[in-house]
Amino acid sequence: MNSVLVASNRGPVSFTVSDDGVLIMRRGGGGLVSGLSGVAKDDGVLWVCAALSDDDRSAVRLSPGGRLDQAGYDTGPLRMLDIPATTFHRAYNAVANSTLWFVNHLLYDIPNAPSFGIRFAREWESYRDYNGAFALALAEEAGHGARVMVQDYHLTLTPAMLRAERPDLRIAHFSHTPWAPPEYFSLLPDEVAGEVLEGILGADHAGFLAERWAAAFMDCCEAVLGAEVDRAAPSVTHEGRTTRIGVHSLGVDGAALWERAGEPDVESHIAAIREQVGDRRLIVRIDRTELSKNIVRGLVAYGEFLAAHPEWHGRVVHLAFAYPSRHDLPEYREYTASVQRCAQEIENEFATEDWDPLILNVHDDYPRSLAAYRMADVLLVNPIRDGMNLVAKEGPVLSPRCALVLSREAGAAAELGPYALMVNPYDISGTAAALHQALVMPEDERRARRDKLRAAATALPPQKWLAAQLDALD
Ligand code: G6P
Repeated sequence: MNSVLVASNRGPVSFTVSDDGVLIMRRGGGGLVSGLSGVAKDDGVLWVCAALSDDDRSAVRLSPGGRLDQAGYDTGPLRMLDIPATTFHRAYNAVANSTLWFVNHLLYDIPNAPSFGIRFAREWESYRDYNGAFALALAEEAGHGARVMVQDYHLTLTPAMLRAERPDLRIAHFSHTPWAPPEYFSLLPDEVAGEVLEGILGADHAGFLAERWAAAFMDCCEAVLGAEVDRAAPSVTHEGRTTRIGVHSLGVDGAALWERAGEPDVESHIAAIREQVGDRRLIVRIDRTELSKNIVRGLVAYGEFLAAHPEWHGRVVHLAFAYPSRHDLPEYREYTASVQRCAQEIENEFATEDWDPLILNVHDDYPRSLAAYRMADVLLVNPIRDGMNLVAKEGPVLSPRCALVLSREAGAAAELGPYALMVNPYDISGTAAALHQALVMPEDERRARRDKLRAAATALPPQKWLAAQLDALD
């Protein structure tokens, strides 16, 4: 039996079947997995995650009890759940990604969406089943009094379900996303809004990446449930139980990142990018192609900057890495297409025979991203809203001279704000001006800011972040 468990939708690895029928294991993507991967494995924590694809399901079926580590994969203790595909898709795509993600990132085009009818009721039922499958697996795997850390918006109901099964456990929930203010959260049908909040309040400790999101969660508990909120403690008391609220601002493991970024595959990407861009200055962005990342406005801002500053023509290149994400959702496919269209417009307007102003890459390549960080003169991170944004933290750790242009709506702004050039993500002209300011920032100022950014970015590396969540359960 296990004494420490982590549960999340996406696990540290995913599988694809090669042309000759062999299962190939890959590292999972996104902030949550980047944060947890190294630590969970090193500390022998049992990680429970969902099979995300048929290829993952094949791997699970070949593993005793879904334990991939026991089937010989070098994953650390890992149980992958084979949840029926229809249930999984409704829970992941329709509820988690199209509803809870949209609510917490304020992404709806309000005159047209959301609308909650019979179809949503069915999807919500699947979300309950999916959360129930996690609760059941955790209840089976956890030793007496074990500490269980449930992660993110996919699993808001699991804490309360697990507590009902196993009152002996100490349960934490952690949100890697922002949290919506009550007026926006209340777009959800009342019962659903209540169930989400009560689900998380089933935990002993509810963690967030920034004060803002923790405050919004408490506001929702008060407004929707009429719960008693103690903002000083901070804690929420509802129906006789108290859940402590904590803020743990996940950072990066500087040493591990350095080590990885020094490997030969990264070096060869650096050489290849240099070959392509020469000694031009680089404005870098690295994102999932995600609505909340605001990639289109970032590109438009770059276009405005080029229009306003012809002196930079031929002297700067924007490297925009936007790797694929959530392509089951039509909104994401359309968004990818608008990113590509917008990039093409910049090309059409500014490219010359010997200057490519923009290199857009939509294929995921981790070593190439690390190479880009190392080479960046400017890092653009302009999300509409973001739980934390680890890109904003990884960049300054790896780059010797990058200036950070950062959205004030990213959780990371709370720590990095004083040393970054802050922008309103909707203000294209403001963003364009910040790009220029970042390019011309004097050398000593950029290094001084970079040092402060680096210190803030590495203040709470994943090991300490996980330890803080565990301590909160003692
Ligand atoms: C965000 C979420 C994570 C999620 C990641 C990638 O960081 O907070 O829970 O894993 O995005 O998204 P995906 O849908 O591909 O897992």
